[in-house]
Amino acid sequence: MTDIDITNQGAATASVADLTLEEKASLTSGASFWWTKGVERAGIPSVMLTDGPHGLRKQRGSADHLGIGDSVPATCFPPAVGLGSSWDTALAHRVGEALGVESSIEDVAVILGPGVNIKRSPLCGRNFEYFSEDPIVSGVMAAALVRGTQSTGVGTSLKHFAANNQEHDRMRSSSDVDPRPLREIYLRGFQRVVEDAQPYTVMCSYNRVNGVFASEDPFLLTRVLRDEWGFEGLVVSDWGAVNDRVSALAAGLDLEMPSSGGATDAQIVDAVRAGSLDESVVDASAARVAHLATRWQGTPRVAGPLDVDAHHALAREVAGRSIVLLKNDGGLLPLRAERSVALIGAFVDQPRYQGAGSSMINPTRIDSVAREVAIKVGEDLVSQAQGFTLDGSGDAAALRAEAVALAAENDVAVVFLGLPAAAESEGYDREHIDLPAVQLELLDAVLEVNPDTVVVLSNGSVVALPFADDVSAILEGWLLGQAGGGAIADVLCGDVNPSAKLTETIPVRLEDSPAFLNFPGEDGHVRYGEGLFVGYRWYDARKIEVTFPFGHGLSYTTFGYGDAAASVGADGDVEVRVIVTNTGDRAGREVVQVYTGLASADVQRPERELKAFALVELEAGESREVVLTVRRADLAYWHVRTDRWVVEGGEYTVDVAASSRDLRSSTTVEVVGDTLVLPLTRESSLAEVFAHPVAGPIVQQAMAQMASAMEGAASIMPEGVDMAKMMGSFPIGRIGMIAGDSLGPEQVDQLLAMANGAGA
Ligand code: BGC
Repeated sequence: MTDIDITNQGAATASVADLTLEEKASLTSGASFWWTKGVERAGIPSVMLTDGPHGLRKQRGSADHLGIGDSVPATCFPPAVGLGSSWDTALAHRVGEALGVESSIEDVAVILGPGVNIKRSPLCGRNFEYFSEDPIVSGVMAAALVRGTQSTGVGTSLKHFAANNQEHDRMRSSSDVDPRPLREIYLRGFQRVVEDAQPYTVMCSYNRVNGVFASEDPFLLTRVLRDEWGFEGLVVSDWGAVNDRVSALAAGLDLEMPSSGGATDAQIVDAVRAGSLDESVVDASAARVAHLATRWQGTPRVAGPLDVDAHHALAREVAGRSIVLLKNDGGLLPLRAERSVALIGAFVDQPRYQGAGSSMINPTRIDSVAREVAIKVGEDLVSQAQGFTLDGSGDAAALRAEAVALAAENDVAVVFLGLPAAAESEGYDREHIDLPAVQLELLDAVLEVNPDTVVVLSNGSVVALPFADDVSAILEGWLLGQAGGGAIADVLCGDVNPSAKLTETIPVRLEDSPAFLNFPGEDGHVRYGEGLFVGYRWYDARKIEVTFPFGHGLSYTTFGYGDAAASVGADGDVEVRVIVTNTGDRAGREVVQVYTGLASADVQRPERELKAFALVELEAGESREVVLTVRRADLAYWHVRTDRWVVEGGEYTVDVAASSRDLRSSTTVEVVGDTLVLPLTRESSLAEVFAHPVAGPIVQQAMAQMASAMEGAASIMPEGVDMAKMMGSFPIGRIGMIAGDSLGPEQVDQLLAMANGAGA
């Protein structure tokens, strides 16, 4: 890979003090579909931003928003669904760097990605572009990718901010989500990337969040993004996401894309002249655009031409690390030498390697799995049958019969199943998670004649696997990019030992999934009714059986885990240590996962949440200590009443696991919580007052004095009734009703003033 020195990179500041209001306003919208405007006389250039995320989609001619129309050939790496499954941050960094190199060669200042939206429902048409149902996996993997790209001087665009978890009605729909899931699930991944990697840009999404367009939401774009997380870059709109340009600018949206033909620039100028928009707001956004552009101007470009072979090799390596071995009964895989293989299914010749929409790359080449398997196994041992068509054309019975005959003649049948391209795409969602019936029928027929059948899946998001118990070996191949064919051959034949694990649960039925009753919403609103319980958090809480759990993935070797130990360090982070041993007979990689829980929590919390992970590479028989860090901040929940993060104290369980349902060693750690003293009001319940360090003892004493007066009342209560508990929800402001003059309104107010003064 090319070495890049960007230490002396470009102008770090850009002044807009000498620009006219018109010039400043003009900087804040695009010149064309992919280019920003410059101001020539001030030396501010026009720069290009283009898709993303898993390859460069740079169009040569005029804009063709969602198409692939004539974009320069570029390496199509596995989309996030694949890369995420590697759980390998070093690999994500290398992919990011390669994306940066390709962008730099093509003079692209910002590549539009990565996408870190949470896979709320398996139905979302764009799940293939996102990493996970879990915010830690999403955030950690995306941060590594961003750092990789930006190490080349090319910027990234973290998207789609925020709560954009479906395609249905995406330009209008309001994602109605409560504060805790918003913070703990939907924003957490974005926060991680912003805080750890400072992407040059963040792209706001099309949708509304709790009724407000993301493009004009000051809460999201300014308070959360800049004030809380310290974002220093530029906020760009998704293409066409601006509803009201002046409100958007005021809310914190710096750059409208694509071009508005100057119409909305004039609206900004008018608003400033009319006094309804402060010119300093325009200055700030114009300066950010100018900074992005001048920084790019001063960044050394990577010299071309692109090393197509090296990037293809990287794409193959990544694809191999993206394939999840879901099942491998009897060690059917890797394929043993001298066994004949029938490759069955339309995907053999028509690989599905990326998803549809704005992320479609024009690949530099495409591997053929049939050719790659033949190279390894020997041409005479490999044969092929189509089995079915992807568009439903042709004689299904005849195609099936031909494939079944071939399966019967060969030692092993490898059946390639998956979703046709049209089944999932940007712009619309799926309606079910089933594979086409023609494919399932074919598989059943093959299984009748050959028990040594392997299924290889191609799909951008999970599909139901009704055959999971009947098939010996299953490879989840997701969408693997242009080198997917080679990578599948590498895994089938054992040249690559699979190490990927699921970043999304494979449910038994769509009906089991968390958002089933709340997706995709109606009347312009989608209610995130499952709250915090997204993905495995839901299946675990409801004790729902799944086909394969979050975090699951096998290897051709096996791993043993020692006893985990956890301790709190000086910085408050929790350090987890465990010895992992490769107990099999070949080298392999294991993704070690750490989940925490707090059974004594005061608030609703999932039983187990992923907080850290690490990849360890071990030779056969080798042992190594793996050290993982759970950040204290990641233990926090969002405290709704005080609008801030709070780490609750207590004994946390720490599960070290091979998957969310394969816990290998559990321990506990005592965490000291944040001090949280809620201000007391007349509305505060007696339980809250009792718990208060100042007011508690006073009121308890007063209540004890009252006890004798209440004896008569207490005597009619059944024995054992806890009066304090019974009265726990009684507001202190109304205690006078019971306590009489001893705690009348005046005394209560005095008490509250004293408590709040002391607690402040
Ligand atoms: C997509 C973005 C993409 C942009 C530019 C939008 O429709 O949502 O992800 O980057 O178009 O193609």
